[in-house]
Amino acid sequence: MSGVNEIRSAFLDYFKKNGHEIVASSPLVPRNDPTLMFTNAGMVQFKNVFTGLEKRPYSRAATAQKSVRAGGKHNDLDNVGYTARHLTFFEMLGNFSFGDYFKERAIELAWNLITKEFGLPKDKLLVTVYHTDDEAAGYWKKIAGFSDDRIIRIATSDNFWAMGDTGPCGPCSEIFIDRGEHIWGGPPGTPEEDGDRFLEFWNLVFMQYEQVTKEERIDLPRPSIDTGMGLERMASILQGVESVFETDLFRHLIEVASSALGRGPDADNVGSYRVIADHLRSASFLVADGVLPSNEGRGYVLRRIMRRAMRHGQLLGASEPLMWKLVPALVREMGQAYPELVRGEPLITETLKLEETRFRKTLARGLGLLSEATDKLGAGDMLDGETAFKLYDTYGFPLDLTQDALRQRNISVNLDGFNDAMQRQKAEARKSWAGSGEAATETVWFGIKEKVGATDFLGYETEQAEGMVLTLVKDGKEIAEAKAGDEVAVVVNQTPFYGESGGQMGDTGNLSGEGFAIDITDTQKKGDGVFVHLGKVAKGTVKPGAAVEMKVDHARRSRLRSNHSATHLIHEALREVLGTHVAQKGSLVAPERLRFDISHNKPVSADELEQVERMANEIVVQNSPVTTRLMSVDDAIAEGAMALFGEKYGDEVRVVSMGMGLHGARANRPYSVELCGGTHVTSTGDIGLIRIVSDGAVAAGVRRIEALTGEAARRHLDEQDRRLKAVAAALKVSPADVLTRVETLVDERRKLERELADARKKLALGGGAAAGASGGAAETVAGVGFLGRSVSGVSPKDLKPLADEGKSSLGSGVVVFVGAGEDNKASVVVAVTDDLTGRYSAVDLVRVASAALGGQGGGGRPDMAQAGGPDASKADEAIAAVKAAMAG
Ligand code: SER
Repeated sequence: MSGVNEIRSAFLDYFKKNGHEIVASSPLVPRNDPTLMFTNAGMVQFKNVFTGLEKRPYSRAATAQKSVRAGGKHNDLDNVGYTARHLTFFEMLGNFSFGDYFKERAIELAWNLITKEFGLPKDKLLVTVYHTDDEAAGYWKKIAGFSDDRIIRIATSDNFWAMGDTGPCGPCSEIFIDRGEHIWGGPPGTPEEDGDRFLEFWNLVFMQYEQVTKEERIDLPRPSIDTGMGLERMASILQGVESVFETDLFRHLIEVASSALGRGPDADNVGSYRVIADHLRSASFLVADGVLPSNEGRGYVLRRIMRRAMRHGQLLGASEPLMWKLVPALVREMGQAYPELVRGEPLITETLKLEETRFRKTLARGLGLLSEATDKLGAGDMLDGETAFKLYDTYGFPLDLTQDALRQRNISVNLDGFNDAMQRQKAEARKSWAGSGEAATETVWFGIKEKVGATDFLGYETEQAEGMVLTLVKDGKEIAEAKAGDEVAVVVNQTPFYGESGGQMGDTGNLSGEGFAIDITDTQKKGDGVFVHLGKVAKGTVKPGAAVEMKVDHARRSRLRSNHSATHLIHEALREVLGTHVAQKGSLVAPERLRFDISHNKPVSADELEQVERMANEIVVQNSPVTTRLMSVDDAIAEGAMALFGEKYGDEVRVVSMGMGLHGARANRPYSVELCGGTHVTSTGDIGLIRIVSDGAVAAGVRRIEALTGEAARRHLDEQDRRLKAVAAALKVSPADVLTRVETLVDERRKLERELADARKKLALGGGAAAGASGGAAETVAGVGFLGRSVSGVSPKDLKPLADEGKSSLGSGVVVFVGAGEDNKASVVVAVTDDLTGRYSAVDLVRVASAALGGQGGGGRPDMAQAGGPDASKADEAIAAVKAAMAG
């Protein structure tokens, strides 16, 4: 059982057997501790359980925890490659008691594991305890049978463990093994303790205190246990090798690296192989946990790790990027225990390849400059700060890379000179910014950026995290505190809240901390990388420095994810259906819907929209994983990723791909590939359903499409269905027959309308006392034929044809029709047969009628004129008035 993977399992099995809950490793970016750069020990995820803030359903746990010590309080970066035991990434095996067992049981469990299960020779083991900890010393005597000389009392912080400047802490007891005289080194507490002979492999911390601030330390509610065993160190012991780099896992990684380089490690270059193997692990695990290389914070530590490894690759003669080629070997070794490595493999590979390709371009020139500048220097000399800064600024050499490169020759770097140069450059940058146009409104944010740096965005990985308030801004000014009711902008060192960009709206949610809560209604990005949480203090008072629990509104963010991913699918489907000329002109990803504007100068037909919707949904149903990779803009575009015109991209871009094409040239190729910084679903199936609800024109050549996804789409369909059912019920047919029924009804109605119109006409002309017409039959007035009638149900536009027919039925004479419309409004037509137009003018007569109807005016020709009036009940008077006028 001495392989690394087997030792890990044996450790966890042992503690499981002893009543411990096996808990998965937490991510390397601590979500529960803003003060830590990286998870540096197994206890980090349990920090709040020790202090009593958080409850778990178990009081004993065991873990194999990914840990990185390369930045912050615990930093081993500079030692890697130079000692047999230091690593930047390592796995810490640990058992924990949260107020359950304490010192005695912890020592007993440890002793039994290493001597009985792992079979370590008792006579080679020794321990340290904190100098005042008689209790621990007593248990070691009792349980291990150690004599006093094997229990070494240490008074320094080596035997008082603390996670960081604050947090749980306590005295500890470390277990060492003597690896034999052939290795240089002395027992702990001696001047030779830094040698590799006495190897510390397990630290038992008796967690008793909490460091609240730098000055204040309080008792934990219940004494607890936190232990940490370096898996790699234990493997080196069990495998009988002197260094962690000779264990099976590292051997395999180094073999792959040496076969890629075509040369094996030898005494001179083995250090470089070790750096590469270690840094490959830390870089890969960090990328898998969402850290990407950048020029600040965690991203910069990652970049330093990567670049150091790359320089060592160069030292070994690599003629092309090397690190990315080693990723499959790492995934083989560790992917089973850490599935995030398998999931992240494409992103890790791309990130390493990109970083190395770009860095190689300047590495050789930078090294040339460095060797020129140090040509005349010898051991003990110092490189000037200006050159170190030039290497940093122009060639991208992190300071420690320069230091590392000079270490072998025992040359140091003038740090004061380096810092001076750095300050000078910052002052220059400030000056040039102050002169630019936006400066006035945005100055406050750029000032904040300079002071506190860019915000670490954790939101691709998590929707909850802890952070520390860095500053508060109200009305464009930094303020010392914000009280209940205040509208405030909050800047935190890290955040899971997405800041509005790329069309996707900012996250909402809440921030809370001791005695205060803030409702966040929006998140914006300002000052080049500062995430600003906008909201209102709901209760209490908040000040810079406060610790905050940050929670994104999960339901809303899930809808945003779905809508953003659906936007990508609709975009590609539009290109597939309408042609690749379709370009995105704007988009809005809101929680309740998505809006997408495209350039296309025809309306999109219902058929086309249906196809778009169907194709996008085909990819949803595929339920394929959505992948994210990081690459240079040029590479991304060369791969066919869609870049949005007018969008500003950094040197490196995120490329989001989803789905597998199904038709034509797209078949079997990634369906949608876009440069995008937004948040997306994990698998396309998470979108649930895409429903296009509208399409219209917003400007010349620009069409706007709106769509719904998931639950909103389902509700929309539901509503449609309910309406259809209600219509079917009203029609008394099944929903399937609605269309036929409605068509029949429309036909019938048309026919009936025609019949009705005919009947009314007949009535109007035919006289009689039937409903719909009143007035007399044809008569004679002033010696000429006269037909005067008031009719209802005949539209004003039908009055004229009716009057025409009246004229033909009279042969010679005057016709008056008064129609009653809605609101009792009247319209009147007067027609005069041609033979009489010399005697009567239809226009004059219609004016008389109109006046009787309460109106005025009217117009037309002498043979046919029309007018209106407000009072149709005066129809008979109007007819009488015309008659009177004719009689004259
Ligand atoms: N926290 C302690 C350490 O890291 C024991 O796990 O060494």
